[in-house]
Amino acid sequence: MGKVIAIDGPSGAGKSTLSKLIAERLGFQFLDTGALYRATALHLMRNGLKEDSTDEEIASALKGVEIVFIDEKVFLKDTSRSYEEDVSEQIRTTDIGHYASVFSAKKVVRDFLLQKQRDAAIENNIVAEGRDMTTVVFPHAWRKFFLDASEQGRAKRRYLQLKEKGIDITMEDALRDIQERDRRDSNRDIAPLKRADDAIYIDTTDMSMDEVLERMLEAIGN
Ligand code: DC
Repeated sequence: MGKVIAIDGPSGAGKSTLSKLIAERLGFQFLDTGALYRATALHLMRNGLKEDSTDEEIASALKGVEIVFIDEKVFLKDTSRSYEEDVSEQIRTTDIGHYASVFSAKKVVRDFLLQKQRDAAIENNIVAEGRDMTTVVFPHAWRKFFLDASEQGRAKRRYLQLKEKGIDITMEDALRDIQERDRRDSNRDIAPLKRADDAIYIDTTDMSMDEVLERMLEAIGN
């Protein structure tokens, strides 16, 4: 097993930006588990699965599906149909964020992704970010963090991120999106977002990314 730096927190707290920076600095691999849930949701949506689909229907739709990271890109593979597609851009919409949150509350979906996430650390040191890294996927992680920020601060960050990607969104939509997802992600029965007792808590609201990075690197030590 490699070393795992596990990072959890609500949407828009800066987890993926910081995870990437830490991974670069330390020469670790970056595991974006939100991308796994997003690509899974995209596949399920395309195949007509809905929030009220049964576990059997979802499990059957996920047969032969693989999600692979190559360089900075996310590929969705369907091995039963020898099909492979770069979905890096498509998974970043607020719509897919919504469905990722909806489908991620289901045990059948979480089970599908659990081992894939753990496997990423078998041969590599990784920085893994998501909602249940410190609690469920890597409870014995080498280092654990919980990144938080005010709702307004997170909505603003999300708004700017999406705008930069050319996605048309208003501040109100960004705020509604994170409120709705956080409520669902924190209140679900399985692997809800919560702060692990042994995770270092950082409120990033009034900090620059550089400041947060320095604080985290200091806490990581070596
Ligand atoms: O981090 P993100 O916004 O890309 O994640 C999209 C959704 O996926 C999020 O709202 C909930 C779900 N998710 C999860 O349930 N567990 C994770 N470890 C990562 C994401």
